Amino acid sequence: MSDQTTATSDSETLTFPPGFRWGVATASYQYEGDCENSQWRAWEKAGGIANGDIAGIACDWWRHAERDFDLAQQLGLNALRLSVEWSRLEPRSGEWDAAAFARYREVLQGLRARGIEPMVTLHHFSNPLWFEEMGAFLAPSALDLFTRFVARVVEELGDLCDLWCTINEPNVYSVVGYLLGIWPPGHKGDARNTFRVQATLARAHAAAYRAIHQRQPNARVGWAQNFNILDPATNSPLDRLVAGIQDAAYNDFFPRAVLTARAVFPLNLFAGNLSDVRGTCDFLGINLYYRERVAFSLRHASQIFGRRFVPKGVPRGDPGLNDFFGEVYPDGIRRVAERLGVFGKPIYITEHGVADRTDRIRPWVVEQGARNVYAAIQQGLDVRGYYHWSLVDNFEWAEGWHSRFGLAALDLTTQERTLRPSGQFYSAIATANALTPDMVRQFVVDAPPSAR
Ligand code: FCB
Repeated sequence: MSDQTTATSDSETLTFPPGFRWGVATASYQYEGDCENSQWRAWEKAGGIANGDIAGIACDWWRHAERDFDLAQQLGLNALRLSVEWSRLEPRSGEWDAAAFARYREVLQGLRARGIEPMVTLHHFSNPLWFEEMGAFLAPSALDLFTRFVARVVEELGDLCDLWCTINEPNVYSVVGYLLGIWPPGHKGDARNTFRVQATLARAHAAAYRAIHQRQPNARVGWAQNFNILDPATNSPLDRLVAGIQDAAYNDFFPRAVLTARAVFPLNLFAGNLSDVRGTCDFLGINLYYRERVAFSLRHASQIFGRRFVPKGVPRGDPGLNDFFGEVYPDGIRRVAERLGVFGKPIYITEHGVADRTDRIRPWVVEQGARNVYAAIQQGLDVRGYYHWSLVDNFEWAEGWHSRFGLAALDLTTQERTLRPSGQFYSAIATANALTPDMVRQFVVDAPPSAR
């Protein structure tokens, strides 16, 4: 793949449009701590997390989120993506926790008081236990229950937020939970339900979109789609064919459903009629981390005859314990923005980052993230913000505390934060609303050799 963005002259200052959002992305289960009523808590108790880790008090946000809002403000950030925890707000079906709503009001006010615009995600992988036990998004009443929750959140918090992300990574939620079985509910190889869950999530997104707009006509509503760049291993027609099919199944199902109400064969067999879903988004959220190559292989029937692999020598973060982290591939930002640009919707990079405990390549990832966003804007694409995943090391799902994605390191025993050099670098970019050659010289000391 040619690297248009890494080829951008290093002597040039890249200045971003006024008002560009420089943010960080977070999620309730990973940051708040003590989400006792979530299915993830049950998954921890059942031994589902590497090393037997538990989220525990996590980054202690339920009590002290403001400490990190101070940090975000000091870094010069003007945006922060966070999620509300359904399992906290509705601990039992139909019962609302007034104190939890009050705390979220305080949290959103805390952001606004610091000049930080919140983007609120309504579902970020975590379900209330009661909802999980009835089958989560496979339950016949799932749509009604999710919509009831969304409506309530907008009624309670809508005066403090108008930028909503309905569902985080519907493809990851369904594939990792129903096909790989590494996340709750731990189904392995359940292809049928993987697509049924995604189709239901598309409907849940659409219902949420309408429920929000009914209550807040000026709301901006989208979702965050995970894109895993799946390039053919070679130019051979068979490699291209299987890479294209995997790409359509993994990356494209949800955007295509929302933007065109269509699903490609064979997904249309599971998806049903999607006409109600069409047009239900005001922006597109892109979560971009990795690239994998796909080679045709008769031995990989369960993966639609495509063997996925990561070539040697490409940039990688720290290895994951479940090992599904691919090549770190910031150029994917521009490629996906280009691909979605035809739909004419504003775009936010709702997540981008790397697991990197020693900050070995994160500065390069930050630099390349900015360069790719800049390149996309230069091409006329309407990219409005970039949210780095993540502000502080946090509880990384089945990886537990092993994988460290923070611009700041977290000491779990003291809750002390230590800003990594990449955090200083990101702060410099956000503060200047620009990437300068001096910043690159100062911070990007150790770019992956293969990427230069
Ligand atoms: C994304 C998730 C986010 C975080 C990052 C590393 O897939 O949305 O919660 O775990 O990966």
